[in-house]
Amino acid sequence: MTYDSGTYGERTADEYDALYSDFVPPAAQIRLLAELAGTTPAVEIGSGTGRVTLPLAERVPVFAVDASEEMTRQLAKKAGDLPVTPITADAAHYVAGRRVDLVFACFNTFFLLASEQVQRAFLRNAGRMLTDGGTLLIETFVPRPGQRLPDGPHPGVFPRQRSVVSLKRRTVDTVVFFAAEHHDAEQEFHYSEVVLRDGEPVRVLPGQMRYWQPEQIDVLAGEAGLLLRERWEDWDRSRYDAATSAKHISLYRLAGQGQ
Ligand SMILES: C[S@@+](CC[C@H](N)C(=O)[O-])C[C@H]1O[C@@H](n2cnc3c(N)ncnc32)[C@H](O)[C@@H]1O
Repeated sequence: MTYDSGTYGERTADEYDALYSDFVPPAAQIRLLAELAGTTPAVEIGSGTGRVTLPLAERVPVFAVDASEEMTRQLAKKAGDLPVTPITADAAHYVAGRRVDLVFACFNTFFLLASEQVQRAFLRNAGRMLTDGGTLLIETFVPRPGQRLPDGPHPGVFPRQRSVVSLKRRTVDTVVFFAAEHHDAEQEFHYSEVVLRDGEPVRVLPGQMRYWQPEQIDVLAGEAGLLLRERWEDWDRSRYDAATSAKHISLYRLAGQGQ
C-alpha cells in the first residue's frame, strides 16, 4: 500500500478521539486563534475530528479542511449548530472562496502533509487566501533526535537512530506503542501507532513526518511569498529558544505588507 495525503486520516479517524481527546487545547490557544481570525472565518488545515476546530467555533466560524473524508465525517457529526464548514480537500489544492485573516495548521500537521511538494503547495495556497494583514500560523515540533515529541499527554519519540519503539500509553485493557523509522537524509520519519486492546483486533495506524528546522520553514515560506512575523515557544506567547524549545508557534504574513 502506498502512503498519500489521505492515508493517515482514513486509517486513524475512528481511533483518533480515543488516542487524543484527552489532549485538550489550552485556553490560550483558542484565545489566540480567535483573536487572529478577527472578523473572518478561520481556515484550519488538517482539522481532524475537531479537537481544535470545535472549541474555536464557539468563538469564530471555522472552515475545517481535511484530506480525509472519514475525518471530515467524524467532525461533521460532532459540530451540531456550531459555525463549522467541514471540507474534504487536500491542502495542496484548497483555496477558500474568500480572503481570510487566519489560516492555521496546528499539532504538527504541517510535517504530516505527505511531502515537500504538498507542504510547498499549502504555503502558496495560504498566501492566496490571506488578507493583507492576515496570518498563517504553524504549530510544530523542533526536530531534536531522541526527544519526546510535544504531542499531548502520551507522546511519541523523535528517533535518534534508525528506528525506535516506545510506549505511548498503557491502561488496564489498552497498550499503544509508537514505532518509527528515521530517514535522516530525507528529513523524514515514518511511524506507526500500534494499538493493542484486549479482545480486539490489532490496529496499525501509519503516519509520515517530513520535518524541517524552523529556519528551513522560514525559507519555504519566503519562497511562497510569506514572511516570519513572530515565533513563540507556546500558546502563551512565551519566548522561543532555539536551543531548548520543543516546539514553535510561527506566524507569517504576506511579504510586502507592513507589521
Ligand atoms: C495530527 S492530525 C491533527 C488534527 C487536529 N488538527 C488536532 O489538532 O487534533 C492531522 C490531520 O491532518 C490531515 N491531513 C494530512 N495530510 C493532509 C493534507 N495533505 N491536506 C489536508 N489535511 C491533511 C489528517 O487527515 C489529520 O486529520
